[in-house]
Amino acid sequence: MSPMPRFTPEFLDELKSRLRPSDVIGRFVKLKKRGNAWWGLSPFKPEKTPSFSVDDRRGTYHCFSTQNHGDIITFLIETQGMTFPEAVERLAADAGLELPAENPEAAARAEKAKGLAEACAAAAKFYQAMLHRADGREAMDYLRGREITDAQIEAFAIGFAPAGRNALKDYLLNKDFPEDVLVEAGLLIKPEDGGASYDRFRNRIMFPILGSRDRVIAFGGRALDPNARAKYLNSPETPLFHKGSVLYNFNAARAAAADDKKPLIVCEGYMDVIALWGAGIKRGVAPLGTALTEDQLALLWRSSDEPVLCFDGDSAGVNAAHRSVDRALPMLKPGKSLNFAFLPEGQDPDDLIRSEGVAAMNEVLAKARPLVDVLWSRETTIRPLDTPERRAALRSHLRDLVKQVADKDVRGAYGEELSRRLDAEFRPPERRQSYGGGARQGGNPFRGSSRDFGKGRGPNQKGPNNRGMGFRYAAPARPTPGLKGPSQWVREASLVLAAINHPALIERHEDAFFGLELADPGLKTLLGEVLAAISTTPTLDSAGLKSHLSQTGAAGILERVTQDPQLRNNWRLRPDAEIGEVELGFQNALAHHLFESTHKQEVARSASQIFTEGDGAWKAAAAAREELINSSKPEEAEGDEGDSPKRFADALERMKQTVDKKFGR
Ligand code: UTP
Ligand code: MN
Repeated sequence: MSPMPRFTPEFLDELKSRLRPSDVIGRFVKLKKRGNAWWGLSPFKPEKTPSFSVDDRRGTYHCFSTQNHGDIITFLIETQGMTFPEAVERLAADAGLELPAENPEAAARAEKAKGLAEACAAAAKFYQAMLHRADGREAMDYLRGREITDAQIEAFAIGFAPAGRNALKDYLLNKDFPEDVLVEAGLLIKPEDGGASYDRFRNRIMFPILGSRDRVIAFGGRALDPNARAKYLNSPETPLFHKGSVLYNFNAARAAAADDKKPLIVCEGYMDVIALWGAGIKRGVAPLGTALTEDQLALLWRSSDEPVLCFDGDSAGVNAAHRSVDRALPMLKPGKSLNFAFLPEGQDPDDLIRSEGVAAMNEVLAKARPLVDVLWSRETTIRPLDTPERRAALRSHLRDLVKQVADKDVRGAYGEELSRRLDAEFRPPERRQSYGGGARQGGNPFRGSSRDFGKGRGPNQKGPNNRGMGFRYAAPARPTPGLKGPSQWVREASLVLAAINHPALIERHEDAFFGLELADPGLKTLLGEVLAAISTTPTLDSAGLKSHLSQTGAAGILERVTQDPQLRNNWRLRPDAEIGEVELGFQNALAHHLFESTHKQEVARSASQIFTEGDGAWKAAAAAREELINSSKPEEAEGDEGDSPKRFADALERMKQTVDKKFGR
């Protein structure tokens, strides 16, 4: 085997301390410094607006659009297709660090794993042979009784473990496998009291479990004796076998799924996978007696965008499906989801195929429902929705669920979809009509992703930004008479306060915030702290952000901003305001801020920065930008008049269209 270099944590730390992430990553991604972080276009997906940040102080990168996160080593692995040792060797060369000598421990570990796998392979051969001998007669009859064919026995290398305590042990010791290897491979049990070791699997039908490169890494055994203590017994955790990261039949199923261009099917047990295969559906896999783990979900998603999970239609099955929904929700990625197939009550795929045939199974699979459907019906059927309070509770509960989705785009799409369903369910049709018709601005029009989720919306609900739960897009415009225009400080402070009370706004208006020019030095400091905190911890909520800020040099100014009576009176800025309202308030304040600035060039630059990056886009936006500057100033009374910057919005819309055209959209 190839020599393994020794990479101790100390060596890796030394390596990382010698290289600046922005230098290493800057060779692959064009980075620009903003605030405390470096920003560039995501190397993980095509985009027009930078959402990829590199923080030299922390030694990390974070992609806000794909949630990829890591250090210089993972960067090379994820974007350059390097293996871990390749990445380390490359960086060591860059850093002028000498590679450590070969690691005898790692070499020994690999050697040992090889020994364990060889023992498992020999055991599998033994069990297979036993099934066809006189001893295995009962087992063979049992399989025949379950309509298992020779082809299935062959394909799954099904075997039989004889009833004696030493059958396998004697055989393998005879083949010169050391006893401790057989114990470590989980094939023998060594009693704690020092007694003699004996066969773990006795009088059982044996199902070998294959790992990568089709090595036998473990076994599942089904008792022949109906009175056995456990119907199924699996190998224990060993250096080769980690139950939670393995799926039965995964390698073969992945190949079949690719051939058939159909998704993987996840069922509960070995026999289900084998029955599906017998019926010509060869893309079945099963976890090993536990609910799906995160590792297993990741494994599934590596080969299928939307694997189908099969559940018994009884209440236990539905509960199990709900647990899978909850486990999968935070991990959803663009294009990656789950479908749920429910079988007739009390049946598993094996039962159904044998009793009704494969057509019935295919019908069940065809009726599989998307995750969002299962989630929606769970949430809308567990409690009555007959009062406004209950519906509000549903809305807020759904919002909490959506928040769990880590991926920003999927989160947005979920928010939008559930919001749409709520509207369809509870809003009178005439009010729904009035939504989304206006040229409402917000979010980042150049973040293409959110457009992809527009399907299912009404024809006049255009615009990429109608995402998130319950955002209100109809402006409740009610001007407050006699309110004088706010001072520059209040105007600037309201922008910063909007970000502090609603950190979600930063993600939606990243460019605006990072390009914001504030005249007041205190507010400038405060904004800098806010953006630095959000760059390093994008999940920070308002309370977390405030408590962080109160420990920085900006604590005093934070206090002043949060206590200012004029700001406190602006209901759109309050922490409990709906994000849609906050967005209106923010856009309004931003419009004023840009127009009040005395330097027209600055205005122009900031305005175009809200929407785009890069020279091409800059030129493309230039014409529209001029128009924007020359258009008249928005009306006063910021934050209290929903649609006051109407002309501003119109000009921005034209500008957006110009740039859209430039990018061929
Ligand atoms: P089931 O009890 O549903 O059995 O276990 P099954 O797959 O229908 O098996 P048959 O049809 O009676 O032979 C489903 C899966 O749960 C795990 C096994 O992986 C099994 O395939 N299991 C079950 C255990 O690990 N231990 C047990 O005692 C029972
Ligand atoms: Mn069964």
